[in-house]
Amino acid sequence: MVTQNTVNRFDRRRLIATGAGTALAALTLNSKLQAHSAPAPSIVRDMTAANLRGAFGGETMAYMRYVVWANHADKDDKPNIARLYRAVAEAEKVHADNHFVELAEHPGEELVASMAVFGLGSTSANLKGAIEGEVFEVKEMYPAFLAVAKKQNEQGAIQSFEYALEAEKAHIDLFEKAKRAADRNRDMELAPVRVCDVCGYTLEGDIPDECPICGHSRNHFMSFA
Ligand SMILES: [Fe+2]
Ligand SMILES: [Fe+2]
Repeated sequence: MVTQNTVNRFDRRRLIATGAGTALAALTLNSKLQAHSAPAPSIVRDMTAANLRGAFGGETMAYMRYVVWANHADKDDKPNIARLYRAVAEAEKVHADNHFVELAEHPGEELVASMAVFGLGSTSANLKGAIEGEVFEVKEMYPAFLAVAKKQNEQGAIQSFEYALEAEKAHIDLFEKAKRAADRNRDMELAPVRVCDVCGYTLEGDIPDECPICGHSRNHFMSFA
């Protein structure tokens, strides 16, 4: 289920990124016209807010970690593994953005505790760290955060956590494929990688007609070829 707020904020970000100023102005005007009838933003309760902050911290660090490891893979003469890292990094950025926006009702300074994988070793060792981080998110972090959000009936957080949880599953498979190649000191075989810019769903190969996680059209996929 995608809320109108989700669509509007995505469209705004995409339009800014593509410099479509005229369309953005139209969208802003349209948003103002709709503002009086838009539902009030949801209030995020404290426990869910803490989990959103933790997930934001985790995703933000995952983004940066993958950028660093991508550069390392390039130096290790493994450009496809580097490309995979950069694609998955974009997916983590989508998740961080979604979590941050859901925290609109909770401004202010906060200390954020989040699990993070550190290390800069061989490409194989870095991929091991990447897999461990993704597995933690899929097996522990997001299921727990999702359970709390459902208990507290926080619809925005439920969607943000569900998007991330489903997308991370694909990351495990892709990084395991990369590690099998790196373990033999080879680069991986890798077709174009596609990332949905609404939910972060990541796949290798052709762009689907619609995203299997969030249902948005093929126009919402970024390509890393
Ligand atoms: Fe991931
Ligand atoms: Fe999606």
